[in-house]
Parts: sequence; C-alpha cells; structure tokens
Amino acid sequence: MRTYAISGAASGIGRAAKELLEADGHRVIGIDLRDADVIADLSGAQGRASMVRDVTAISGGRLDAVLAVAGLASNSAATARVNYFGMLATLEGLRPLLEQSDAPRAVAVASMAVMFPHDAELAAAFEAGDEAAAVARAEVLAKEEGQAIYATSKRTIARWVRRAAPSADWAGKGIALNAVAPGVIATPMMADSLASAENRRQLESMVPMPLGGIAKAEDVAELLRFLSSVENGHMCGQVVFIDGGADAVMRGDTIFPLT
Ligand SMILES: NC(=O)c1ccc[n+]([C@@H]2O[C@H](COP(=O)([O-])OP(=O)(O)OC[C@H]3O[C@@H](n4cnc5c(N)ncnc54)[C@H](O)[C@@H]3O)[C@@H](O)[C@H]2O)c1
Repeated sequence: MRTYAISGAASGIGRAAKELLEADGHRVIGIDLRDADVIADLSGAQGRASMVRDVTAISGGRLDAVLAVAGLASNSAATARVNYFGMLATLEGLRPLLEQSDAPRAVAVASMAVMFPHDAELAAAFEAGDEAAAVARAEVLAKEEGQAIYATSKRTIARWVRRAAPSADWAGKGIALNAVAPGVIATPMMADSLASAENRRQLESMVPMPLGGIAKAEDVAELLRFLSSVENGHMCGQVVFIDGGADAVMRGDTIFPLT
C-alpha cells in the first residue's frame, strides 16, 4: 500500500484518480476546496501553507506520490494563481515528504493547451516567481477574450517540470517527476463548453482528437496511476500527451526536425 496526496481530488480527473488508487488498495489524501481530507485554497499563500502542514500531519510526514491536479480554466487571475503557483506550491511543498519513500513519484497535470498561444509577459512573471506581477498581467488579459492565461499557465508548468525533474532536488533524490497533457476530457470543468452541439463542434475543431474524440476522466486517471506507480522508475521530465492525437496532428513531426 502506498500513500498518495492528490490536489483537486473532489472532482473530475483528481477524483477519478483517487477512486482508482483507492480501489487498488492505496491510501489517498485528497486536497480540495471542499469534500476532501485536507480543505485548502491553493490560490493563496495561506492555503498553500496550511495544505502542506495538514498533509504532513495526516501522512505522518511521508508520501509515496503527489498528483498535482487542481486547476481552473476560467479566463481570470485566479487561474494564474491556482494553475501555476498553486501547482508549484503543491509539488515543491510536499517534495520533502516524498524523500521518505522508497519509490517516490510526482505528476503535474498540464494540458494540450501548452500548444496554444501564450502571453510572454505573463510567462516571464510566472518563471520569475513573481505572483503579484503575474496577477497584474492576468487581470489585464482577463479583460480580453481568449485562453492566454490558461495556455500560459500550462505551458510554464510543463517547462518547469522539464527543468526541475532532472535536477538534484528531484532526480537527485530519486523522485520521478513528470506531467500529463490531456486533450478535451468530459469533467465538470468542461460542462459549459460541452453543453451544446455547437460548442462541442467548436471545441473539436480547436482540438483535433482522431482517436476516440472527447475522453473520460478515468482515461487520464489510468495514466496518472502508471506515472505514479513503483513500476515507473525511469521516466523523468516527460510531458505525456493523452489527447486522442491532438499533439500528433497539430505539431506533427516538427518536434523532430530534420536538418
Ligand atoms: N477537463 C479537461 O478537458 C482538461 C484538459 C486538460 C487539462 N485539464 C486539467 O486537469 C486538471 C483537473 O481538471 P478537471 O477537468 O478534473 O476539472 P474539475 O473542475 O472537475 O476539477 C478541478 C478541481 O480542482 C479544484 N480546485 C480549483 N481551484 C482550487 C483551489 N483554489 N484550491 C484547491 N482546489 C481547487 C476544484 O475544486 C475541483 O475539485 C486541471 O488542472 C485542468 O486544467 C483538464
């Protein structure tokens, strides 16, 4: 039996992962705004600190895996706070607990939206760790139509995973850190976008998914199960697309250019 901490465990992908891992006989400490073992608001410093304190107390100071799933998709400053700084605080804040495990694993949930246009100023604020500047820029972007806040938060968290995973703090401590990049998954987050046939068609044209179309939260949970398992001892810094082929269609072989 392993002990997991999962943020966003009350709904969608986080909830599906919690159910799958509990059915496997593991212990899961769920973190969320509601309906969770640890109630915490990851949009601010206080909630992030109380999350680390409470997970440490409940777990006895040892975790085998952390799944950082909690996120927002709204075009708002809250998305910048939760998706980048909240996710980073979850992974970095709980990392010392992973050091106590024989087979420690961590997974961040990014998105296929890493491929969508990003905002350079917001990305720079994220990567400088400047939350006040990121929020100020997000408040400007939120006045315009678009997904730049979400796409930038996911792109920068994917970049962070690739930088951090091979470093002394992670690989150096034997912790396998990776990310997943889902396509469109039918969860409460997407309920509005999937509510009408017209919205659905629009989404499907933005995110081509020739293999199976819109997926279920359980499909992503299966991948999270593997990435956080004892068996996954050698993947490091990968961003695994689980998107019905959207990445293969949109980027094709451009990621492996021939000179
Ligand atoms: N559904 C999709 O199509 C899709 C695609 C790509 C990536 N994702 C990512 O997957 C992750 C999970 O999304 P989902 O689709 O399961 O959505 P969801 O809305 O069903 O679940 C998200 C969970 O995160 C929690 N959360 C939000 N803000 C929080 C905060 N401030 N503090 C603590 N918890 C908070 C919510 O309460 C909720 O339980 C997100 O990071 C999302 O960006 C989803």
